[in-house]
Amino acid sequence: MPYYRVRGGNRICGKTAIGGGKNAALPILAALVLTTGQTTLHNVPHIADIHLSIDILRHLGCRAELNDHTLTVTNDGITTSTLPADLVTKMRSSILFMGAMLGATGTVTIANPGGCQIGSRPIDLHLKGLRQMGATIEDDGTQMHATAPEGLTGTPIYLREASVGATENLILAAATAKGETTIVNAAREPEIVDLAHFLNACGANIQGAGTTTITITGVKTLSGTTHRIMPDRIVTGTFLLAAAMTGGDVTFTGVNPTDVRPITAPLRAMGCDISEKPATLRLRAPRLLTAQHLVTEVHPGFPTDMQAPFVAALATAKGTSIIEERIFESRAAHATELIRMGANIRLTSDERTFIIKGRASLNATETTARDLRGGAALILAALAARGTSTIHDPGYVARGYEKIEEALTRLGGEVTFFP
Ligand code: UD1
Repeated sequence: MPYYRVRGGNRICGKTAIGGGKNAALPILAALVLTTGQTTLHNVPHIADIHLSIDILRHLGCRAELNDHTLTVTNDGITTSTLPADLVTKMRSSILFMGAMLGATGTVTIANPGGCQIGSRPIDLHLKGLRQMGATIEDDGTQMHATAPEGLTGTPIYLREASVGATENLILAAATAKGETTIVNAAREPEIVDLAHFLNACGANIQGAGTTTITITGVKTLSGTTHRIMPDRIVTGTFLLAAAMTGGDVTFTGVNPTDVRPITAPLRAMGCDISEKPATLRLRAPRLLTAQHLVTEVHPGFPTDMQAPFVAALATAKGTSIIEERIFESRAAHATELIRMGANIRLTSDERTFIIKGRASLNATETTARDLRGGAALILAALAARGTSTIHDPGYVARGYEKIEEALTRLGGEVTFFP
């Protein structure tokens, strides 16, 4: 069985470039079913979910080639309206193909994306919005069949929650719908802005991305373009924490410091010295991190994807920290594993609040990743622990971090991946 081996105790230091964001690239790949002709995307990360999305595009009739970090996709017409169930069920974000396919062909059959390790993750907001735009959606429990034979029609849509995925799905559906769609209480994540920039470069008319009200005026056609995927905010945050927890000093290039402020602000409060320059961030760690009270929120609040890595970091801070998870209902599997490494973490009975009493050091041990960000948190803890740790089920981590073992080793860590 594959695993990571991490020898802890080294300071994470040095300079490296941060690659393109998974959560930015995935909706843009789904958008490609709406475009005609050739698109070139730069800064595409080599991670499992991206490879799955490329395979879905190929199944739908697109030609796609990924060389280094440049993806070229040619769409000369979508040839099927049925998405491959085996690929769709491996990746939750494949639901984004639903809005894009309805916009492109007026019909789509897609397997239910199912639940996942961090909670039930409903898609009711996606479906409600698409229905408001005129789609008929039948769900037989295994797969959904959606049609809009007359095409989709723009309409005002209010989102009960500022869901990232629902906002993206509805932008995709509205881009070529008839008339104007207004999404109120839209999510404001920078990845949504990147999607809007991409679609506008293809000829779409999307205003207000990055605010809570997004207006999309449908256009008849979208053509291919060239676009650079924005840097990965969560990879940046994870590597900043690796330095923060090991007394390190790192400089990251290719980042957007403004987008990362919901992560650098708590790091500063923890005692880290952080300097920002255009596209560059430097972090110098203090001798000891300071405890914090953090609450996950929608952007520009503290991101839920950084909750597990911060739980790991605060396990080594001076004082008692509290982290409240307000976005997902069961995102706490890493707590048990971190406790096995000597962390003093108490979880409230609803598994939403972590009370963390920091300790001087953690112990190396054998642990298992249970989800993507929780797995990254275990690598961080292992970097800061004395001795050699083993982290089983590395597949979760590899879904969101391109060769994390190489990136951390370049920065002075000792992380090895055993396939
Ligand atoms: C995206 C990110 C994920 C991140 C999350 C929150 C991608 C590929 N994934 O996931 O990394 O953790 O945003 O920042 O970009 N909800 C509903 N009904 C819906 C949709 C969502 O109730 O139809 C709820 C969810 O249960 C959750 C909250 O809304 O409580 C936020 O979820 P959402 O923003 O949709 O997350 P994702 O788009 O799945």
